[in-house]
Amino acid sequence: MTPARNGSEGSIRLADQPDQQRPHAHSDTPSGDLSGPGGAINEGSSAGTSAGMSAGTSGGTNFDTALGRALVERGIVGQPAMDECLRELRTRIEQSRPTTLRELLLERNLTSSDQLDQIRVEAESTKSVTRIQGYQILRKLGQGAMAKVYLARQISLDRLVAIKILPKDFSENANFIARFKKEGRSAASLSHNNIVAAYEIGETNGLHYFVMEYVDGDTVYDRIVARKRIPEREALDIIRQVATALEHAHDRGVVHRDIKPRNIMMTVSGVAKLADLGLARMMSDRALAESEAGRAYGTPYYISPEQIQGKIDIGPPADIYGLGATFYHMVTGKVPYEAKGQSEVMKKHLHQPLVPPDHLNPQISAGTALIIETMLAKNIRDRYRNARDLIKDIDLVLAGKEPEFAKPAVDIAAIATAVQATADDPLTVVRRGNDNPFANPAVLALVALLAASVVGNLVLLALLLSR
Ligand SMILES: Nc1ncnc2c1ncn2[C@@H]1O[C@H](COP(=O)(O)OP(=O)(O)OP(=O)(O)O)[C@@H](O)[C@H]1O
Ligand SMILES: [Mg+2]
Repeated sequence: MTPARNGSEGSIRLADQPDQQRPHAHSDTPSGDLSGPGGAINEGSSAGTSAGMSAGTSGGTNFDTALGRALVERGIVGQPAMDECLRELRTRIEQSRPTTLRELLLERNLTSSDQLDQIRVEAESTKSVTRIQGYQILRKLGQGAMAKVYLARQISLDRLVAIKILPKDFSENANFIARFKKEGRSAASLSHNNIVAAYEIGETNGLHYFVMEYVDGDTVYDRIVARKRIPEREALDIIRQVATALEHAHDRGVVHRDIKPRNIMMTVSGVAKLADLGLARMMSDRALAESEAGRAYGTPYYISPEQIQGKIDIGPPADIYGLGATFYHMVTGKVPYEAKGQSEVMKKHLHQPLVPPDHLNPQISAGTALIIETMLAKNIRDRYRNARDLIKDIDLVLAGKEPEFAKPAVDIAAIATAVQATADDPLTVVRRGNDNPFANPAVLALVALLAASVVGNLVLLALLLSR
């Protein structure tokens, strides 16, 4: 994935943060810009509002002021102790022995240098974030092609949340905002252990944001990158969890439309959480429009053929396809269709037969391979009709049985590929014997009978004509 949207970076910079309030360079901060975060350090809170902490009178730099606020806000140093430090800094300036707040805090054992470094990292990662009323932005969690996600503390409920801030150009489009609100409401109607809960949508300084459940863990994408392949059983378990999330969403009329490894988060205890439900729908429309216009966007490795074709009635099968592509990537270590450009990848989704996943990873069972192939059927008719059927098949395979709903698609080109691969790998016949009708002796006998009858008829015809 190569997120390459330029221009949004600057749009998130605080509009209401005058330059003179930004900190001076300081030897402690390589970037020379620790505090910048009007957003990271909530000026509306009690911390930092005492007279002793106002810049210029504190005896310290603006940097010290911001650092002081951050420490008080995080409860690392109490307000009285901080005020006392700032008074001491003033005194030392008057005595011509200037000291930085950092030095004084360490001298008095009020913080450790680790805590100070941590605050610097957090401040740097949030330095251009806007303020959001009611939340204290702590640090950047990640960045996708179109938005940035921050860890924040919801002050009223004292809980950690994740906030996705959309770029400015999204926020300027009235049509988009209307959809954003509508989708936000539909996302909020969902409640499922395997779905990242939507808490709030809002707007600040003309930027739209989405507050959601914070997932303390990694994404399936991170796991694939770290381990190349996910073992079959673990992958089946994760896919099953996401399938139950889809069943819940689809039953309520919500289609995700952007299922991919980056949108599946994993908690430390192994619970899969599907992210961006509702929101992804708008993103995927836009991403597609942008890629059609030739602009750079993440490569569409997991998109369904019907979305590529621009069909308007995109439904649950599109999510099953995306989950199938994710499943394929997890167990084979490769995306289903690889190519240089986005349009080549999309063409392959539409026309190229799938290399069966067990050809790339012969260790996976025939049942799992068949499930993945059915999820990735190009034609909706050949795909799982719904997540329920998919879950049943996963359960059968987990129990060591054959799947019930998975059917190999009748695709001449795919059969040709399979026959070729079979010649290369004799094991395939044994493990996937049911897939190939010619591997069945009864079918072979029938074909031989048919051939003999055709030859017989031809001979008779020739005899009749020769008379
Ligand atoms: N609810 C959350 N809790 C914790 N981290 C999150 C949460 N949502 C997103 N993240 C982190 O933020 C990153 C960026 O998320 P975002 O949804 O903006 O983009 P993406 O899904 O990674 O990629 P793309 O923009 O291509 O869809 C994710 O990869 C993940 O690491
Ligand atoms: Mg996402």
